[in-house]
Amino acid sequence: MTDKARIAVMVSGTGTNLQALIDAQNSGLIEKGEIVLVISNREGAYALERAHKAGIEAFTISRKASGGQEGFEEACCELIDSRNIDLIVLAGFLMILSKDFVTRYDHKIINIHPSLIPSFCGDGFYGLKPHIAALERGVKVTGATVHYVNEIADGGEIIAQKAVNVEEGDTPEILQRRVMEQAEWLILPVAVAKICRKIVKERHGKL
Ligand code: GRF
Repeated sequence: MTDKARIAVMVSGTGTNLQALIDAQNSGLIEKGEIVLVISNREGAYALERAHKAGIEAFTISRKASGGQEGFEEACCELIDSRNIDLIVLAGFLMILSKDFVTRYDHKIINIHPSLIPSFCGDGFYGLKPHIAALERGVKVTGATVHYVNEIADGGEIIAQKAVNVEEGDTPEILQRRVMEQAEWLILPVAVAKICRKIVKERHGKL
């Protein structure tokens, strides 16, 4: 049976984590999953270009045009539910989702965060900020974390982590790139592959 878990990826920017997932799907690493939907909250995000090139259905949903957070989330739910999504991956997605939304999809949403949670995470720690904080604190090791999403920013159960060395002379940009290359782009596809295998196994088990 070619049963696969159906994946939606929510993005806001460059989409390098989305690209890592697309590449992992094409290489067969994500054997039991298929990315079938990409949702961006930002018009023109390069992640959308990556989705188009990969032939993945992609939409931009503007919070403003949707009449605010509630309208944005309603539009997302319509797409997610109509596409029978099994797993939602937040990949460089920069909006906070409401408690209603994360409760509706309890244990079905995961996120990649560019630090070793519980360090340098929570409200306001996005983009370069975790790396700026790591350099300011003088840590010798940082990294990335994949975690389930609950109502607390970066507070859900940790799924996977990978450590990355901080080097002499690192700037936030250099450190961010190393964390992406040596951690984010590796642990996110592996975590998604593992979760998809579990989803398919459980689905068979319920048959
Ligand atoms: C990455 O550092 C990611 O960890 C964070 O947003 C940044 C950009 O991600 N969540 P992407 O290139 O849009 O996937």
